[in-house]
This record gives sequence, structure tokens and C-alpha cells, in this order.
Amino acid sequence: MKNIVILISGAGSNMAAIVRAAEQGRWAERRQVRVAAVLSSKEAAAGLALAQSSGIATGVLEPKAFDSREAFDAALMAKVDAFSPDLVVLAGFMRILTPAFVAHYAGRLINIHPSLLPAFAGLNTHQRAIDAGCRFAGATVHQVTAELDQGRILAQAVVPILPGDTAHSLGARVLSQEHLIYPRAVVDFLDAIA
Ligand code: GAR
Repeated sequence: MKNIVILISGAGSNMAAIVRAAEQGRWAERRQVRVAAVLSSKEAAAGLALAQSSGIATGVLEPKAFDSREAFDAALMAKVDAFSPDLVVLAGFMRILTPAFVAHYAGRLINIHPSLLPAFAGLNTHQRAIDAGCRFAGATVHQVTAELDQGRILAQAVVPILPGDTAHSLGARVLSQEHLIYPRAVVDFLDAIA
């Protein structure tokens, strides 16, 4: 069985899309792939309850309990490794990871970012795309490397930016596409390392 560990910080809608795809696509029987755990950097993350209701192991590790980024990432690695991950999926995990963490999961760590990378790495992607006059926006699934939002691109979805769009309306349009491309990218990635 190949194990996926998903890291979240908030709503967890991308995590939910992956869990739903795993259930509906019967990944466990058909592909020997399962979501082994969902870990959150925030106790209040709404996604945790949802993962629990699907019978998935969950855990919380809050940065404020640690006095350095390195200490937090070391503790996170221990928690993640307890589930023997073949793939670690960042799904709205709002932390910049240390080089040690990224190196430890080299080749098995992916992220989804709400822009058409390499444009608009970082935060506030939708407002920045609107302000720049872009006609299109989107989302990118990419491998995680030491440089923020820079790894090899695995999948993208494109949506139009419409007259009168706000960061909110554009964000919702992009998010609905994220839910389509992320589960697909996860499966493709795991198939490729079969
Ligand atoms: C998603 O839009 C994801 O692309 C973004 O956070 C949101 C999380 O939503 N990620 C980043 O901005 C990473 N830099 P979710 O918790 O509902 O999946």
C-alpha cells in the first residue's frame, strides 16, 4: 500500500477533494493507495473533522509550541514519518518549510499554489493577478524544492479573469479547479513512481 500524508492549515477543501477522489475512485483496492493521515498546523482547522469522519488518522502540531522553525519542522517530520509516506501533499499548508524538511522529502513532496506559476509566487495571488491586468489566472501543482513555489510543474488549470472580479470571486473560481487537478495529479504522481 502506498501512503499519502496530507498537511493542511485551514479549510482543507483540497484535502477533502483528494479524500473524496480516493473514496469514489476506490484507490485502496484499485491502486493500493491510501490517505494515511491528515496533519494540521492549526488546531482549529475545519478539515480535521472532515478527515476524521472519513476514518483517517489526524494530528495537530502548532508552531507556537516550538521555539524555532527547525524544531517545528523536525517534530513535523517525525509525525509524518510515523505514517511511512510515499507522498507528502501540501494542501493549503501555510508554512514556509526549512531546507532540512524539503531535503528529507525530496522527490515525494508536492504543493498546490493558487496562481499560474511561475507568475505570482507567494501570497495574495488573486489580487495581484487582477491588479496586473491578467486575463487569465489559475492554479499549479508542483514539486516542492527549497525555493518557495519554484519546483517542477506537474499540473495546471486556467480560468478567465472576468470584468468586475474580486480576489474573492476569482479565488472561488480557481479553487473549484484546484479540486479537479489536485487529486488527478496525486494519482498520476504515485502511478509514475510505481
Ligand atoms: C488553496 O487555494 C491553495 O491553493 C492555497 O491555499 C488554499 C487552501 O484551501 N495555498 C497556498 O496559498 C499555498 N501557498 P483549502 O484549505 O480549502 O485546500
